[in-house]
Amino acid sequence: MQDNKQTALSGIKPTGRLTLGNYIGALKNFPSFQEQYHPFIFIADLHALTLPIDPEELRQNTLDIAAFYLASGLDPEKSTIFLQSMVHEHSELATILQNYAYMGEMSRMTQFKDKSRNLNEKQIGLGLFTYPVLMAADIILYDTKVVPVGEDQKQHVELTRDLAIRFNHRYGDVFVVPEVSIPKTGKRIMSLSDPSKKMSKSDPKGDIFLKDDEKTIRKKIMSAVTDMESRVHYDCEKQPGISNLMTIYASLSSLTIEEVEAKFATSNYGTFKREVADLVCSVLIPFQERYRHFLEGDYIDKVLTKGAKEAQEVASKTLKRVKQAIGIYQVK
Ligand code: AMP
Ligand code: TRP
Repeated sequence: MQDNKQTALSGIKPTGRLTLGNYIGALKNFPSFQEQYHPFIFIADLHALTLPIDPEELRQNTLDIAAFYLASGLDPEKSTIFLQSMVHEHSELATILQNYAYMGEMSRMTQFKDKSRNLNEKQIGLGLFTYPVLMAADIILYDTKVVPVGEDQKQHVELTRDLAIRFNHRYGDVFVVPEVSIPKTGKRIMSLSDPSKKMSKSDPKGDIFLKDDEKTIRKKIMSAVTDMESRVHYDCEKQPGISNLMTIYASLSSLTIEEVEAKFATSNYGTFKREVADLVCSVLIPFQERYRHFLEGDYIDKVLTKGAKEAQEVASKTLKRVKQAIGIYQVK
């Protein structure tokens, strides 16, 4: 890794099937960071263990995400694409950092509350609770300047900032304090069947999965829940269904919501939905072809091996700096 650019870092957990929400809120934006920043984009496989997961599913999802990264336009010459578990420094820094995070602030994490709400105490693994500390370690290890994520991850990045600032306050300037970068449009894509809920890969109803075939994608969009007003008008409160479709259209066409509204001012819902379906398919079908192409042969293994080596070069330096700061003896 020869460039001197600042780091942009993000990751996706290999759980469930990736959705259009992941594409719009995360994947699609990563390559745009390649010019100004050096992106470190990884597969958060250790995070995938925080809820029960079938081993075969974990392995397959891991390969899928690697192929999705490449299909979205990430170039291994410009970005470091890697697997979290191949760089042991993540776990080691998390072990250190957890001593600086408080029970109270961890208990307030919305994602933890959401995911543990329907589980009893014997079902909630400790990893689900400490998840944000590992995420903070992921970010801090690479002197990360920006973290491109969807809105649901904002709180975790804020916690990371708090931890970095707390640590720096005690030990001097050890860590770079990261900033979150959330897409202007598409930060939160909602379910097509219930627009009051986030489109989420652990809830198959109303999701468009990135591996859905064209017929399924069209069918899901055409039967998306819409509203009473029968006018393509943006209003998240009163017209959440149509507003969500407008957000999808705007994000994939790079138009603003106002431009989408003007473009479809005289269209009925049926016509508009067909246009949304055309647009989604025109993006996802070629994307799926590229995805399939990258899964052939051992290209992904090569990319991940190269990525882990690059990542470790940076991560090991940060970890040494941390150990030095807190007084962990390091043999020469
Ligand atoms: P996850 O699926 O939780 O591993 O999320 C991976 C990335 O996708 C994160 O940056 C999320 O913020 C983003 N993401 C997940 N679901 C959505 C959604 N419905 N809308 C926008 N972004 C999302
Ligand atoms: N927690 C993120 C999610 O569920 C995935 C993730 C893990 C991540 N570590 C990260 C995202 C570091 C950005 C930066 O979506």
